[in-house]
Amino acid sequence: MYGTDEIQQLQKSSLSFLDKAGHQAEAVSPKETERLREVLRFHEYRYYVMSEPLVSDFEYDSLYKLLQRTESKYPELVSPDSPTQRVGSSLNQNFVTVQHLVPMLSLDNSYNAEDLIDFDRKARELSALDEIEYCIEPKFDGASISLIYENDRLTRAATRGDGVEGDDITTNIKQIRSIPLTAAFSKYGIKQIEIRGEIIMSKKAFAGYNMQLVSQGLAPLANPRNAASGSLRMKDPKEVAQRNLDAFLYHVSYFIRDKGWMTGDRKKTDPLATHAGSLELLWNMGFRSPQKEKRVVKGIQPVIDYCLDFEAHRDDLPYEIDGMVVKVNDIELQESLGMTSHHPRWAIAFKFKARQATTRLRAIEFQVGRTGAVTPVAKLDAVYLGGVTVSSISVHNEEYIREKDLRIGDHVLIERAGDVIPQIVKSLPELREGTETEIVFPKNCPVCGSELFKEETEAVWRCINIECEAQVVERIIHFVSKDAMDIKSFGEANVRKFYELGLLKDIPGIYGLDYERISELEGFGKKSLDNLQAAIEASKQQSLNRLMYGLGIRFVGETTAKTLANSVEHLLDFAGKTEEELTQLEDVGVKVAKSIHGFFQNHQNIDMLQQLELLGLQLKNEKKAAVASGALTGQTFLFTGTLSKLKRSEAEALAEAQGGVIVSGISAKLNYLVVGEDAGSKLEKAKRINTIRIISEDEFLNLI
Ligand code: IVH
Repeated sequence: MYGTDEIQQLQKSSLSFLDKAGHQAEAVSPKETERLREVLRFHEYRYYVMSEPLVSDFEYDSLYKLLQRTESKYPELVSPDSPTQRVGSSLNQNFVTVQHLVPMLSLDNSYNAEDLIDFDRKARELSALDEIEYCIEPKFDGASISLIYENDRLTRAATRGDGVEGDDITTNIKQIRSIPLTAAFSKYGIKQIEIRGEIIMSKKAFAGYNMQLVSQGLAPLANPRNAASGSLRMKDPKEVAQRNLDAFLYHVSYFIRDKGWMTGDRKKTDPLATHAGSLELLWNMGFRSPQKEKRVVKGIQPVIDYCLDFEAHRDDLPYEIDGMVVKVNDIELQESLGMTSHHPRWAIAFKFKARQATTRLRAIEFQVGRTGAVTPVAKLDAVYLGGVTVSSISVHNEEYIREKDLRIGDHVLIERAGDVIPQIVKSLPELREGTETEIVFPKNCPVCGSELFKEETEAVWRCINIECEAQVVERIIHFVSKDAMDIKSFGEANVRKFYELGLLKDIPGIYGLDYERISELEGFGKKSLDNLQAAIEASKQQSLNRLMYGLGIRFVGETTAKTLANSVEHLLDFAGKTEEELTQLEDVGVKVAKSIHGFFQNHQNIDMLQQLELLGLQLKNEKKAAVASGALTGQTFLFTGTLSKLKRSEAEALAEAQGGVIVSGISAKLNYLVVGEDAGSKLEKAKRINTIRIISEDEFLNLI
């Protein structure tokens, strides 16, 4: 990035500025300002990208302050890419959703040599090549981001989001000093470029951050990845700056070049023609790319060797990685291999094996869930495992405990593979000292004391008292959760707090909170209270699907909730449905039907729904209600030929849902013949009866 001469010049300027700073100079001259910025950028690069600083922190700070003083004296000189602009000023940013230039896909996973050999075989078959060149680099365990530089300036940074759209987090990203605010892409004729990478927190920064949290009496974070991704969404950019985040940039996903820049010679030496070349270009532009960690090899065997070698040394790295990424090096070849809707065919992740650790099982806690299931949770001596601090692990049920032969006081082997929740692999009976005690499963609910029941076919013990406090709280938590009513700023902690203080006792209570009393609680300023109130109010308009799911009926997941919501005009219509009727619905088997039926036969549940309706929630299915009074009532329909958008059965159901009647043959009683492709004799016959309206599938869809 910086040549030897340049470094010398910068060091010289640095000394002269330090001299001025040491003499408390008020400012440097307007002419010198840009040079001072260059010096600061150089030191940031040495410190944050290369980890080889050439000045002390104190010296850096005094240069920085000198620039701040200069810019405040000559405000017209402030440039958006000045090192001082990293510190954001907006205190309460709301993140705007932005569209990615290219969808951010995920990677396919491999777990062993065979998977990699298979990946290589497919790539060779698709490309008809005997041997492929690969570039291998670490798979960083952080939060992925996209950066856009236009005319050499960082103009936008976004989170991955759902891969198509993410949050604009430009101000926060500017706090990360290993991300340059400017980069000389124009040297390569590039006007606009999108770069992908990972925001990470080093192991050291993570340990420091957790220590700080603990000293403030707060809970430590589970792993560096969560710490990094949480930091990106901080409302206050100044806080982001304090988190010591880092960034690795590993992929150029899109760029626009000046026309005419790619002349013959430049084509030959274009760094962007290979993946390794792009990493090198990024490195030379001042980014932290895996330039030193990457390796380029031909054929799959050296790929396997490098992956295994890196795995053996993963613990020596200053940051967490959860595997390696193997990429076809040649970009043209990447493009010809293309992608599936989920991942590119030119890259694969090689996931490292589960990491294991031993610890002691100290106690078993019995937790009561939303549906009354009693789950035993093993409390362990905390151990750091695969990037996470583990101190409790669910041990599922009584049978599981017997199978694993777990006892309180046992040494246990635990493991965690990738993103998977940690598991107890086994107990280590050879280390028993004789003081270990058996785990006794309770006969009564640990929360409400009522007797527990277990169905013969199930392994789970349940508390069947639906007023059991634990269940009530879990039901409220589920109701407000993101996938259900999505009441932002409510959250589990608030539900528990309000419940404990007697401010909330059931789901309808959410809509009658005593805000005055809440405002007296610590941590509830006017702003957060306004937000909470607005979110609660907004949730009254949530769709029937979400409300249905939010009720937390056992076995009713999001998909079933949608099917159910679409099948009625009003949620309370379920009270009149039999189990048999319910099983007619898609995805609803006997077990699910029984559970739904049970829910709607319980008068407390019906009372709750009536209360919710009075409070202003939507229990009506607006679409269905409109249909019921529908224009198609009594009209007859017949479908013929192959429909392209709907299955025949779906089309018939739609017509019926609107009051239409399906008939089986052509006659003068038929009102509409809906014609798909390759319609045969029915169409011919219908053409002879002029009262029949012959319509296409699209016309039918318009009609309904
Ligand atoms: S390449 C189109 N390279 O892993 C391909 N991804 O599991 C873009 N990741 O979403 C991805 N290190 O967030 C690539 N060296 C690396 C990576 C990497 C970490 C993340 C990335 C991606 C996820 C897929």
